[in-house]
Amino acid sequence: MKKITIAIDGFSSTGKSTLAKQVAKKLGYIYVDTGAMYRAITFFAMQNNWIDAFGFNKAELISKLPTIDLKFVFNPDLGFGEMFLNGVNVEKQIRSLEVSSFVSQVAEVSEVRALLVAQQKQMGKDKGVVMDGRDIGTVVFPDAEVKLFMTSRADVRAQRRFDELTEKGQLVSYDRVLENVLQRDHIDTTRKDSPLVKAEDAIEVDNSELTREEQFDKVLEIIMEKM
Ligand code: DC
Repeated sequence: MKKITIAIDGFSSTGKSTLAKQVAKKLGYIYVDTGAMYRAITFFAMQNNWIDAFGFNKAELISKLPTIDLKFVFNPDLGFGEMFLNGVNVEKQIRSLEVSSFVSQVAEVSEVRALLVAQQKQMGKDKGVVMDGRDIGTVVFPDAEVKLFMTSRADVRAQRRFDELTEKGQLVSYDRVLENVLQRDHIDTTRKDSPLVKAEDAIEVDNSELTREEQFDKVLEIIMEKM
């Protein structure tokens, strides 16, 4: 069967990555979590004290972008690639609420976006890829055969994120998680460069009331129709 490109965009914590992994596994496609790339650069800026609650030294980060090496290394036990930053596995660190609280500021920087979009285009050049993010169907692969736009209510998303973080042993309050979800929605949709918008030809999937299985079945039907 001819390989296609599947772009999954949407608000934070709408379950994009869970869905993208399920789809990639089913079709034998490569899965690329572009949020992990923005998160890794944010973690790099935090490690160097260029970003914290008091400010953001954008110029320093921009000048050091050429020294950043990002790689997804496939983990056969997990069935997907883990993010390595300059040779170190940073999967755990990049999922913290602290990284989540700074990542939208980093994702606003045009130089960061240009660098990552170029890498993402390269990763998907042979098709057979499921990529999730905010600008995949609009900027990275405007010609993707399947474009999905995921939404769900903010309270549902905050609860999912809260459950995920507490499961991993992180001490967080539900209110802080909800605040982070709303703040990221605002920054992601209002930034100047590549804001989160639904591509004209994307299919919107609201999963507030859907189980993972129901969502997967619905999406698979959409994909099979396009294939
Ligand atoms: O999908 P995620 O929550 O891990 O993404 C983290 C942040 O990165 C998100 O708040 C916005 C940004 N992002 C982006 O601007 N463009 C992408 N393609 C992916 C993520």
